[in-house]
Parts: sequence; C-alpha cells; structure tokens
Amino acid sequence: MFALFSPAIAAGGGIALPKAPIDDSDTESLQRGAALFVNYCMGCHSARHMSYGRLAEDLQISPQQLREHLIFGDAGLGEGMISAMSPEEAKAWFNDAPPPDLSLVARVRGVDWIYAYLRAFYRDDSRPSGWNNAIFENASMPHALAELQGVFARVEDENENENNNSGGDGYAIGKIQLKRISEGGMSAPEYDAAVADLSGFLFYIAEPSRRERLRVGYLVMAGLILTLVACYFLYREYWRDIS
Ligand code: HEC
Repeated sequence: MFALFSPAIAAGGGIALPKAPIDDSDTESLQRGAALFVNYCMGCHSARHMSYGRLAEDLQISPQQLREHLIFGDAGLGEGMISAMSPEEAKAWFNDAPPPDLSLVARVRGVDWIYAYLRAFYRDDSRPSGWNNAIFENASMPHALAELQGVFARVEDENENENNNSGGDGYAIGKIQLKRISEGGMSAPEYDAAVADLSGFLFYIAEPSRRERLRVGYLVMAGLILTLVACYFLYREYWRDIS
C-alpha cells in the first residue's frame, strides 16, 4: 500500500498522491460508481449539473433500472442529481463547511486527490464529526464509506507501520500512520476498487461529453486511415501504366 504513495505528483499538502486507477471508458465501472454515489454520497451532496436522463443514456442504464436503483423520490429524467438535504439543513449541520456540489469536483481537486481522500479517513474524537482525514486535515465530512472500508485510527509512532504497510492492516499517508481498528464489509483491494469506481464516476460527471468526444475522435481517425489506404491503392492504380 505504501509503495502506491511514493511516486506520482506532489499535491494535497505536499503529500505525493498515487495515480487513481480509473478507467472512464469502462461503462460497468461507471455504473458501479453511480450506484455508490447515489447510496453513500447523495444524502449530503448533489451533482446538479448531471441529469438522470443523460446518466442513463451515457451509462446504458434502462429507465426501469434507473427508477429502481438510482432515483429516490420523484425526480424527473431531465433533473439534476439533487441531494435530499436542503441547503438550510446542510448549513445548520455543518456550519461553515457545508457539503459542496460535486459536479465539478474532479476538475477542481483532481481525480487523484479524490481517490486519496476517500482512502484517508481516520477516527478523531477531537473533531465534531468524530472523523479526520489525512489528505484534507480537519475536513468536516464524516467517513461515509466506513461500513465498507472499516475504521482506521492514527498512530503516533512514526515507525509503527514500517514493516506493516500492506495487507490492509495499516498504511502511511505522508507522515500520518494509520492502523486498522475494525473490519468493514470489503477487503482492502475491494475497497480500493470501489473507490476507483466512485472516483471514475466523479471524473466522468465533471465532463460527460469527454467519452463521446473520444469515441468520435477514434471514428474520425479510423475514417482517415481508411481514406489513406484507399488513396494508396488509387495512386498505385494510376501509375501502373505509366511506369
Ligand atoms: C454526512 C454528509 C456527507 C456525506 C454522506 C458525504 N459527504 Fe462529502 N463532504 C461533506 C462535507 C460537510 C464536506 C465539506 C468538508 C469541508 O470542507 O470541511 C464534504 C466534502 C467532500 C469533498 C471535498 C470537496 C472539496 O473540494 O472541498 C469530496 C470530494 C467529497 N465530500 C466526496 C464525497 C463522496 C464521494 C461521498 C460518498 C462516498 C461523500 N462525500 C459523502 C459531507 C458529506
């Protein structure tokens, strides 16, 4: 686990962030990410620029699946993904740091940051929420995925995890050492994969037309290559009698 944190770009408080293993061309991964987002994040966060209709179309989700699994309440297909929590409630519960809209967060923070952030929560009883985060110090967000990941606590001894940095029992993020205090519903690799799906989903909603653009780009390239081949044969045909 620790090795993942060594290379890559330095960001997020001087901590080298691992590259988020996302693949936004993988529609099934984005579907899983969408389900996680709806079930674990939308209690607090919205993604108002992402409409349910577009989501269904891009990710090949049938209207029936959409109604059964992704839309709670009676939102229409043209509406954005709006949290059930009103802005007033959000302000009342989180004071000066209410949950922001996440439509563009992958562009603002970068997808590597999000992937690292969702794997960096630990118990901290001095915080109002009972949680802290090794990437985003004193964040007011509680660990929304604790039932999947399990719970980690910070260890003061900086060498604690030196020989114990794999297998999901503990890991280091920068100077902060974390140690597992309880299991979650997923193993460490399963949790990392789920967080990759979710990060990939946030990457996709920040620029939904990117996938379409890439697809069109490949089609245009294929068209150009075919034209080139055709031109070559035509060229050979024209010059055959002359040379
Ligand atoms: C209980 C409410 C709650 C839940 C559930 C929740 N969050 Fe948050 N989230 C917050 C709050 C509050 C903040 C603002 C933190 C701050 O600025 O201190 C936040 C901040 C964030 C940020 C950082 C935004 C930024 O740029 O500062 C990201 C990314 C994020 N949440 C992702 C998620 C994801 C993904 C989920 C679902 C797994 C989720 N959150 C679930 C309350 C929540």
